[in-house]
Amino acid sequence: MSSQVKSYDLYTMQQKMLEEVIAGLSKPKKTLHAKYFYDQTGSELFEQITQQPEYYPTRTELTILMTHQTAIADRIGPVHTLIEYGSGSSRKIKSLLNSLHQLEEYVPIDISKDYLLLAATELAKDYPNLKIKAVCGDYSTPITLPVDPLLKKVIFFPGSTIGNFDPDEAGRFLQNSAQLLKDGDGFLVGVDTKKEPELLNLAYNDGAGVTKAFNLNILKHINTVLAGTFDPSCFEHVAFYNEEEGRIEMHIKSQIDQTVQVSGHAFTFKEGETIHTENSYKYSIEEFQLLANTNGFRSVTYWTDPNGHFSVHYLEKTST
Ligand code: SAH
Ligand code: AVI
Repeated sequence: MSSQVKSYDLYTMQQKMLEEVIAGLSKPKKTLHAKYFYDQTGSELFEQITQQPEYYPTRTELTILMTHQTAIADRIGPVHTLIEYGSGSSRKIKSLLNSLHQLEEYVPIDISKDYLLLAATELAKDYPNLKIKAVCGDYSTPITLPVDPLLKKVIFFPGSTIGNFDPDEAGRFLQNSAQLLKDGDGFLVGVDTKKEPELLNLAYNDGAGVTKAFNLNILKHINTVLAGTFDPSCFEHVAFYNEEEGRIEMHIKSQIDQTVQVSGHAFTFKEGETIHTENSYKYSIEEFQLLANTNGFRSVTYWTDPNGHFSVHYLEKTST
């Protein structure tokens, strides 16, 4: 890794993962936290999802960011530090790195360590004057970042990854994020909108089966890190839009009666029983503005595509 990129490891995966996986699989309705999709393979599969014709969010958000990059940079104004949650391949950040004024430092944060470090190293080649602090960490709990509290900061959280929290968690997450900021600092966040269920259902059931592979990869990740005995071929991928809740739900359904071990703990599955692996909440513009305005921020403006399929909101931290 070049001296331009520093890496910070705030995360000790194995112990926390064990506790959370055991707790999730012990519930009457089994669950797994969506962050455990992302080992190296999971990150690569997510990147493949973004290339599928049915998965509209990535290309729509990229188009919004490119179309409005000058307006976004002017609205944000001069900024020293750009923080990105769930940075993944660090592809979307380029529109901001190319347009933000007086930017010195980029701080990508991701749980998928090897993927994060590779993306940061690649990015450094294209932006040789940018200081990069790659942080391997879990943003679902409050974290301390290697940043100067007095300098102007903007947090970027693209992809509608905020939709993977339920609305209460998203509110707490916004409040925790506000703690990292001072008045006038910003939060630029991509949010998938409510739309026809057909389009949503297709996006999470692509014809090539990449989302299925992504969903089942959580079992392989558990096998690798926690000595699990899941046979992914004995489970199937289920994803559907729950209109009442305003969310896509992803589940993994057992195709047979079976018992699986995870680090010496046994879990039984009835045929047809599911593990709930992910929610992906969709928000109308007004719903998201209300969420932001009641959790430490002021909704300043937003940009969307002509079909209103995706939105990018700019929020400012409000004085406390
Ligand atoms: N920002 C990219 C990638 C989105 S996929 C895009 O918009 O296309 C979600 C990303 O968030 C993955 O890279 C995943 O590893 C990361 N992630 C998910 N949950 C996380 C958590 N709790 N803490 C840190 N990173 C997380
Ligand atoms: C990262 N996150 C916003 C994606 C989503 O759409 O909820 C993850 C994903 N799950 C299935 N396809 C993509």
